[in-house]
Amino acid sequence: MAGLLEGKKVLVTGVLDRRSIAYSAARLATEQGAEIALSGFGRAMSLTQRSAKRLDPEPPVLELDVNKPENIRTVAEDLEERWGEVHGIVHSVAFASEDALGGNFLSTEWPSVAAALEASAYSLKALSVGLMDLMKPGASVVGLDFDASVAWPAYDWMGVAKAALESTSRYLARYLGPKGIRINLVSAGPLKTLAAKSIPGFEGIEGEWERQAPLSWSTPDPEPGGRAIVSLFSDWWPATTGELIHVDVGYHAMGGPIK
Ligand SMILES: NC(=O)c1ccc[n+]([C@@H]2O[C@H](COP(=O)([O-])OP(=O)(O)OC[C@H]3O[C@@H](n4cnc5c(N)ncnc54)[C@H](O)[C@@H]3O)[C@@H](O)[C@H]2O)c1
Repeated sequence: MAGLLEGKKVLVTGVLDRRSIAYSAARLATEQGAEIALSGFGRAMSLTQRSAKRLDPEPPVLELDVNKPENIRTVAEDLEERWGEVHGIVHSVAFASEDALGGNFLSTEWPSVAAALEASAYSLKALSVGLMDLMKPGASVVGLDFDASVAWPAYDWMGVAKAALESTSRYLARYLGPKGIRINLVSAGPLKTLAAKSIPGFEGIEGEWERQAPLSWSTPDPEPGGRAIVSLFSDWWPATTGELIHVDVGYHAMGGPIK
């Protein structure tokens, strides 16, 4: 049977190591027949290159700091030359400085808030629009969310950035829909990735999942998120855009503890 993404070309941002949600998406997309390119940036570039070597075939790694418009332009030029067309983008990028996380909500100053919003929410618009001319009807952009409908312990300004990401994805769905481009978010449960490690107190949220989710959740396993991302690049969600798909074993739908 042909893979779900046979013939599709997908840019995957946000791969650091095997724990990254984007790594799981990259591996599964490759298994399903997609040709992929990874992006990495700054000091993390070498980690991304090491992860690329674990994939078969080994994808190219492009330099992309989502806050730099010139980087986005260079990636668009590279992909145009390489592929001529892009069928999918994984936006798996988030950043907040230490003073914007871990209980510092009331004292965080605007420059740190602005940095979190820029890298974690505005970048979805910047990247989608930067590659827009390479995407034809049927193309799909998928971002990664942590449910922003409530205020979590420790998540602080990253939670506000995720609320902005959710809204940004809906506006993108509105503006890119007429071009046939779909924009959706996958809202995953808590995972033990490098990004999560940098949030002091985030492990408290993991315990909540054990108590309140009807299905069981494994914090070291990003594959459920990866599977959802890959399925959203397939032709099996042609009528879904501006949507937030929960891959959280039902946590968000429960009103109280199960156990
Ligand atoms: N880990 C969790 O519990 C969890 C849960 C739900 C959603 N998410 C979201 O999933 C996404 C991926 O995070 P992850 O948990 O796999 O961690 P990760 O640390 O593996 O990935 C975060 C990525 O963001 C990249 N990044 C940060 N600033 C960037 C910039 N300016 N330009 C380009 N890339 C930049 C990092 O290089 C890294 O690859 C994030 O949006 C995160 O908020 C994480």
